[in-house]
Amino acid sequence: MTPYDPTSVRPLFPALAQTDEHGQPLIFFDGPGGTQVPQRVIDAISDYLLHRNANSHAAFLTSQRTDETIAAAHAALADFLNAPSPDEIVFGPNMTTLTFAFSRALARTWQPGDEVIVTRLDHDANIAPWLALQEQGVVVRHLDFDPADCTLRVDALDDLLNERTRLVAVGGASNAVGTINPIKQIAVKAHAAGALVFVDAVHLAPHVPLDVQALGCDFLACSVYKFYGPHVGALWGRYDLLEQLPAYKVRPSDPLPPGKWMTGTQNHEGLAGATAAVEYLAWLGAEHGAGYADQFPAFSGRRLALKQGLAAISAYERQLFAHLLDGFEQIPGLTIYGVTARDRLHERTPTAAIRLQGHTPDELSQRLGQLGIATYAGHMYAVAVIERLGLADRGGVLRVGLSHYNTRDEVDKLLEILDDWSS
Ligand SMILES: Cc1ncc(COP(=O)(O)O)c(C=O)c1O
Repeated sequence: MTPYDPTSVRPLFPALAQTDEHGQPLIFFDGPGGTQVPQRVIDAISDYLLHRNANSHAAFLTSQRTDETIAAAHAALADFLNAPSPDEIVFGPNMTTLTFAFSRALARTWQPGDEVIVTRLDHDANIAPWLALQEQGVVVRHLDFDPADCTLRVDALDDLLNERTRLVAVGGASNAVGTINPIKQIAVKAHAAGALVFVDAVHLAPHVPLDVQALGCDFLACSVYKFYGPHVGALWGRYDLLEQLPAYKVRPSDPLPPGKWMTGTQNHEGLAGATAAVEYLAWLGAEHGAGYADQFPAFSGRRLALKQGLAAISAYERQLFAHLLDGFEQIPGLTIYGVTARDRLHERTPTAAIRLQGHTPDELSQRLGQLGIATYAGHMYAVAVIERLGLADRGGVLRVGLSHYNTRDEVDKLLEILDDWSS
């Protein structure tokens, strides 16, 4: 097998060829904020608007094509997440809106005094919707993480779980420090206590093969714009739960999942683009990931190709991230947060949170932006993480997020610049 190499896919992403007004090539280390898209995603969106544009469920051609577009997106995301059925995929504007809708619906079945566990390692989109339920008497407990390596204190979960716990809300991976959480282990503990598990996989989805059945969770949300698609959110839920739970819906809408959860008219062109993003990842798997097939004996067709694609991405990103870490460790005054042990890189995504002595993260991000290098600075909405690390009053961290289209040369350029700026 020829190992995956970003030069084979970069030409497929037109945005990567851009330069700024000084002719400097743009470097995208902002993947955790949102990724660039391949041409096929742009084509699919444009094709929808040109040839399929309509509302759904009517007896004319473009409406029938719209119904096909929606069905194809459900099937694509079901394959991406290895969901048992396309009817278990709910689309919405983004993960945050979907999570607020689900938290409210779940809480319709809860009593004052019922409890939810959230983690301090999560993005606020998987904390605030649960905190909002305090208004109706729900008690929220917080699972801490170890600031030394930014891993969750999973053992402490046993002390937080009790017979009133209705749900554990946990991230698949931290968008701030990159830690991948042991969801399977957490799900086993939560289920043993009779609680459901809601996973925010927004930051995990672009980096590893996902499998909702293997994870053993009950709900999992992700955002297609983080994995090379358009701005669309998707949520998987166990069919029995989606069927039983009381959704907030208009009376004439479908009483069954997924329709009962998909309020209003959907972003049809976005759904066309979502299918194309999944097809891109499957193409990548078929083309560059055949060597990983042995790891997924139970899979075939597009589900296998997707597993292969994400396995190839994961292996490449890990190798590039190790190179980034090697460079960071040579720069005086640079602090890296999260797991750095080279034999534990599978416990994290290639998303680095750093600080450089003598500079605020915002200043670094601004100066890098002027050089055509995209990064983020601050808390990236992971406010609990940054508070727990004691960085809330110090400007948080600079986030450098690697994606499968980033190259070693891009990483070297960043390292050289930061080294120059170090004191
Ligand atoms: C880990 C994580 N969760 C949730 C979100 C929110 O996703 P959305 O923009 O789809 O609401 C983000 C966005 O950056 C994220 O990184």
